[in-house]
Amino acid sequence: MSQFDLVVIGTGPGGYVCAIKAAQLGLKVAVVEKRTVRDGDSAAHGGTCLNVGCIPSKALLHTSELFEEAGHHFEGFGIKVGKPKLDLKAMMAHKDKTIDANVSGIDFLFKKNKVTVYQGTGRILAAGQVEVTAADGSTQTVESRSIVIATGSDVVSLPGIEIDEKRVVSSTGALELEKVPGKLVVIGAGVIGLELGSVWRRLGAEVTVVEFMDKILGPMDADVSKNFQRMLKKQGMDFHLSSRVTAVDTSGKTLKVTVEPAAGGEAKTLDADVVLVAIGRRPVTEGLGLDAVGVALDERGRVKTDGHYQTNVPGIYAIGDVIAGPMLAHKAEDEGVALAEILAGQAGHVNYGVIPGVVYTSPEVAEVGRSEEQLKADGVDYKVGKFAFMANGRAKAMGHSDGFVKVLADASTDQVLGVHIIGHGAGEMIHEAAVLMEFGGSSEDLARTCHAHPTMSEAVKEAAMAAFDKPIHA
Ligand code: FAD
Ligand code: NAI
Repeated sequence: MSQFDLVVIGTGPGGYVCAIKAAQLGLKVAVVEKRTVRDGDSAAHGGTCLNVGCIPSKALLHTSELFEEAGHHFEGFGIKVGKPKLDLKAMMAHKDKTIDANVSGIDFLFKKNKVTVYQGTGRILAAGQVEVTAADGSTQTVESRSIVIATGSDVVSLPGIEIDEKRVVSSTGALELEKVPGKLVVIGAGVIGLELGSVWRRLGAEVTVVEFMDKILGPMDADVSKNFQRMLKKQGMDFHLSSRVTAVDTSGKTLKVTVEPAAGGEAKTLDADVVLVAIGRRPVTEGLGLDAVGVALDERGRVKTDGHYQTNVPGIYAIGDVIAGPMLAHKAEDEGVALAEILAGQAGHVNYGVIPGVVYTSPEVAEVGRSEEQLKADGVDYKVGKFAFMANGRAKAMGHSDGFVKVLADASTDQVLGVHIIGHGAGEMIHEAAVLMEFGGSSEDLARTCHAHPTMSEAVKEAAMAAFDKPIHA
């Protein structure tokens, strides 16, 4: 007889949500987590997201945005506060307090839902058996009917470029810098590069972004990407597109970064005080005993699963960043819920066509569904409705009139297939589009839904009107 119905390895957004949902559905659940809290030795739950990802980055994005607003915009609103002074230590303390409050919140939820916590590193011995090695080297074996691998992802570096988390940093080091770098070179114009690049630019760094592709935020709608890059440039961020970093010389006081055109050609050298490597993340599968148990990985090293999150070994499942799909916390969470439901005998399901993506810069960028490029590639005949925040009263009142909403709908059925927003609060506004798409709604449905005035969300309604008929305010 198994000790538990379910043991989850890793308590990031995928693992902790799966554990709580399974417990709520009446299963006997244990979790294994190796990360420990900053000033102690108890387990730190919440994974990458709460400890070194979503939450600390959003704390710094918020406070650095306030700092920039106070310095550049308050006076135009008639608020004289003088030149704001940065107390980086206090800003970091706010970030750390936010992390701790969120991490302890999960502790509370585990207790409330009677989830047993094993602190240590988990390794699968066989289907039904997980060995947990504690920090002091002692081991114990946990038995369970099902095992869930939710070990997430970790940073990657470039060959020959060593991350020391002081001068050559990953996102983790970039969340902990002790002073504002004079010059920051960011490798990779993806989500991490642009969010954390924005944080340090707002606090005073000169930021240069080197990107391999010919556009920023690769998979995003090209129209959005182009306009967003223009806005970031106006804010002072410099870009080298179609370029790659081949070396970082750390021997001197100033780092020397070698940049080459992606297609080959003459190299140039950029000076930097700090280099942020943000070129993507890799699934964490090492040390889990997957080879010995025979769990198959795909060509990119991710755990292979079927439509029900089961690996090729019966009784062993996987969710979150360690499997295929976007590396997003809410994707991991929804997979956690779906898997818990499946294990409890219900019909768990995730709609991968309606997973929003948000870049928490200023302005924010948000999308759900397909881009114009994807619709063209899929051979779909579509129509476009666009509305600029410049024509939105609330946006003008708040001094946030940059950006637009773009609604893409099927040319014959009017079903909404994608919504893309650049604008203040885009990350909140995108959800009305997600709900609409989840219900298979049309641009006419959205356009005929009464929206409160004056709100930024009226621009979503007007973009839908533009797709289905004509907007009023343009
Ligand atoms: P993780 O959160 O990586 O958790 C895995 C856990 O497993 C970790 O706690 C790890 O310690 C533990 N573990 C690993 N191996 C073992 C083992 N053998 N034994 C025991 N424990 C183990 N996503 C968003 O949606 N929105 C954002 O704003 C956002 N911002 C981000 C900002 C940054 C800087 C970064 C780096 C990421 C960000 N992400 C964001 C991505 C998000 O953090 C991940 O998609 C999410 O954390 C994945 O959840 P997960 O549960 O799959 O894995
Ligand atoms: P990413 O995949 O978003 O971007 C990496 C970028 O680096 C790409 O544009 C790629 O073309 C570029 N690149 C790769 N190799 C390069 C090289 N040698 N030289 C120059 N450029 C190179 O990865 P990122 O930003 O590291 O983020 C990792 C994950 O974390 C993402 O999957 C993302 O979803 C998640 N994340 C999500 C956030 C959010 O939802 N707001 C915030 C931060 C991270």
